[in-house]
Amino acid sequence: MTELIYKKRRDLLSKAIKDNSVVILQSPEEKIRNNDVYYTYRQCSNFYYLTGYNEPLSILLLKKQQGKTKTFFYSTKPNKQATIWTGNIDSAEKIKKNLQIDKCQYLEKFDNDIARFLENSKNIYYLYSDQSNAKKIIDKHINLLEKKYRTGIGYPTNFISLKNILHSMRIIKSKKELSAIRNACSISVNAHKRLMRKCKPNINEYEMHAELMHEFIKSNATEAYPSIVASGKNACILHYTNNKSTLKNGDLLLVDAAAEYDNYASDITRTIPINGKFSKYQKIIYNIVLKAQKNAIKKCIVGNTLYEVHNEAVKTITKELIKIGFIKTTLSKALKSQEYKKFYMHNTGHWLGLDVHDPCEYKENGKFVKLKQGMVFTVEPGIYIRKPKGISSKFHNIGIRIEDDVLVTNKEPEVLTIKLPKEIKDIENIMSKDD
Ligand code: GLY
Ligand code: MN
Ligand code: MN
Repeated sequence: MTELIYKKRRDLLSKAIKDNSVVILQSPEEKIRNNDVYYTYRQCSNFYYLTGYNEPLSILLLKKQQGKTKTFFYSTKPNKQATIWTGNIDSAEKIKKNLQIDKCQYLEKFDNDIARFLENSKNIYYLYSDQSNAKKIIDKHINLLEKKYRTGIGYPTNFISLKNILHSMRIIKSKKELSAIRNACSISVNAHKRLMRKCKPNINEYEMHAELMHEFIKSNATEAYPSIVASGKNACILHYTNNKSTLKNGDLLLVDAAAEYDNYASDITRTIPINGKFSKYQKIIYNIVLKAQKNAIKKCIVGNTLYEVHNEAVKTITKELIKIGFIKTTLSKALKSQEYKKFYMHNTGHWLGLDVHDPCEYKENGKFVKLKQGMVFTVEPGIYIRKPKGISSKFHNIGIRIEDDVLVTNKEPEVLTIKLPKEIKDIENIMSKDD
């Protein structure tokens, strides 16, 4: 199926670059896991954004001259042995048609062709690693061209990373991207609901992890990031992924896990009582985090910034921690001295898209980026109480985070993960159901 959307993105990219330029992206090689076994391949997000192509070691090349741009693609040549072992890959002819490329060839031609692209180009916009084949070949040819300087031949002297341009394109999600993110969110919601129904004391964190994976795999999705299934005090380790402890009656279980669908991520955290009922002390902290999250979500409107969203969460948490005596000073003093950081030490949200932490800019010209329709990000405040001095041991080792994914619209913010319960009564209700 031909995919016009990728061609449109390349056309936009072509408008954003200077004349007399070549754009070169190479998708990374496969990584060895051990001996002769590879990790499952995940395409570079920027490469996917411009091509929709999922194979390693392919090269996309754009040449812009006198205002006109042509696109070229270099792919791995299908061969009989590889077909026997790993299956078919598309021929150059098919790729040219599917990806709407002007000319597609096999990789072995790249070394031959590249000098022609580099000659008389001033700028290279690049996205490949320092160790990549593409870089080695390009460097070799630039060296050769440099040696011919007396002939008056031109060659690129200006190397520009493509990241800024691509990341500023990726910050606003198209309809097709939103549909993939919505799918990822809905799979994650089902996974968390399944886990809530199956959760009980005396089983292991990895058994809960397996319930999530069941839902991801049966829905043709993968983990968007290593799942955090953290019971009891493990929840106070922000990036805990060991997932090998036994679930204890009376403890909480923090689950930060979500699906990636068609290369698009979702990102959800829920914190639930292992025995199905929140204790009095857990409820106190849970309600503070929930209030902070709801207040922060209200700020996710056009014209605000992620800074304001974060500040709202911080303000609510600080106010409420003062009320319960965890912070013993006035609101303004506590905000100034950032006392909340003892309990809430991470940011409230991040861009979400092809990457779970989508690498779009947070500031432009020193100012926080204003929220616009089509932006997607997480809202994920938390409170983590290890064993701070002066805090009753009833609260020790409580770690709570609540995370949803939010789309900015021209009206109210849309919570893409709204279908997953987060009110105490709704969580307790779903957990009381038989699996
Ligand atoms: N799951 C990673 C994060 O919430 O940022
Ligand atoms: Mn997140
Ligand atoms: Mn998360």
